[in-house]
Amino acid sequence: MSYLKTTEDVYRKAALEPEVGLCCTTTPVWQLPGLDIPPRMLEMNYGCGSTIHPRDLVNEPTVLYVGVGGGMELLQFAYFSRRPGAIIGVDVVDEMLDACRANFAEAEKRNPWFRSEFVALRKGDALHLPVADASVDVAAQNCLFNIFKERELRRALEEMYRVLKPHGRLVMSDPICEQPMPDHIRADERLRALCLSGAMPLRDYLALITDVGFGTVEVRARRPYRVLSPNRYEVDELIYIESVEVAAIKDPMPADGPCIFTGRTAIYFGDEPFFDDGKGHVLVPDQPLAVCDKTAAALEALGRDDILVTPSTWFYDGGGCC
Ligand SMILES: C[S@@+](CC[C@H](N)C(=O)[O-])C[C@H]1O[C@@H](n2cnc3c(N)ncnc32)[C@H](O)[C@@H]1O
Repeated sequence: MSYLKTTEDVYRKAALEPEVGLCCTTTPVWQLPGLDIPPRMLEMNYGCGSTIHPRDLVNEPTVLYVGVGGGMELLQFAYFSRRPGAIIGVDVVDEMLDACRANFAEAEKRNPWFRSEFVALRKGDALHLPVADASVDVAAQNCLFNIFKERELRRALEEMYRVLKPHGRLVMSDPICEQPMPDHIRADERLRALCLSGAMPLRDYLALITDVGFGTVEVRARRPYRVLSPNRYEVDELIYIESVEVAAIKDPMPADGPCIFTGRTAIYFGDEPFFDDGKGHVLVPDQPLAVCDKTAAALEALGRDDILVTPSTWFYDGGGCC
C-alpha cells in the first residue's frame, strides 16, 4: 500500500472518531485569555509540539498550515490574526477537512471573536501545495512531515520554501530519533503514519531544511516523545524518540553556511569593556549573547580563557548573532 493510501486511512479514522493522545507529548496546549477550545477539537490535537509562537505573528501575517487535524492550531493562529482568509489550512483527507469545519462551527459558538471565515480550508497535498509562490509569511506543519520518506520530505520542504515570502518563517514540530531505526520499522507505512517510525536524527533533519535553502534555523524546543519497546514493537532494543520544534527562516544562505541556533550563548568576563570578534559579535561583560552553532564553534576555537561558550540547551526563542 502506498504511504499516501495508508496515511489517508489512518487520518480518515482519526477524523471520524478522535484518537486521544495519538501524537501527544508534554508541550502545553496554548490556553489564552478569551480562547475556548472545543473539547472535540482538543481531543483531536494530533500535534507533537506547538507551532504557535506569538513572536512570529506580528504585522498581520498570512499563515499557511499544512495537515489541519481537528483545527486546534488553526484556531490558535486565528486568535492572533483575526481577519478573513488570514489563515490557509491544507489537508489531503476530506474527512479531516470536514471534521475541522465542524470544530470551527463549535468554536464560533464558544468564542465571540472567532469566525470560520478567518481560515480558508483547501483540499491539497503537502507535496503539491495549492498555494501561490512567495505568498505567505508563516508556514507551519505539526507532526506531518515525519511521515514522509526522505524524497517526499525534501519535496514538502521545497514546497514550503516556494510559498514563503523572503524572510518568511517555516515553523514545524516533528519526532526525531538519535538511535538507528531498524529498516523494517522505518519502512512500516502504518507506523510512519502514526508518527512513530519516520523520525530521523536532528542533525539530518536540520540538514534537509538548510539544503532546501533556509539560511537561519532555530531549534526552539526538544522534548521526550515515545519509546518503541521490544515487548510492543518488533525491535531488539528500546528506541527513544523525542519531538522537536524548529523554525526555519527564508533568509539568504550566508557564504559560510547556515546559522543554526540551538540555545548556545557566549559570555565574556575579561577586563576590557567588551570583546569584538570582528564579525559582528560584540560581547559585553556579564551579558550572555545568543550565538548560532557556527559562531559558538569559532569563538571556542579562539581558545580564550575569558569567554565561556555554553552548550546547546535546545530551547532557543530569540536574540542572536547573525
Ligand atoms: C499527525 S496529524 C497532525 C494534525 C495537526 N497538525 C495537529 O497538530 O493536530 C497529520 C495531518 O496531516 C494530514 N495529512 C496527511 N498526509 C498529508 C499530505 N500528504 N498532505 C496534506 N495533509 C496531509 C492528515 O490528514 C492529518 O490531518
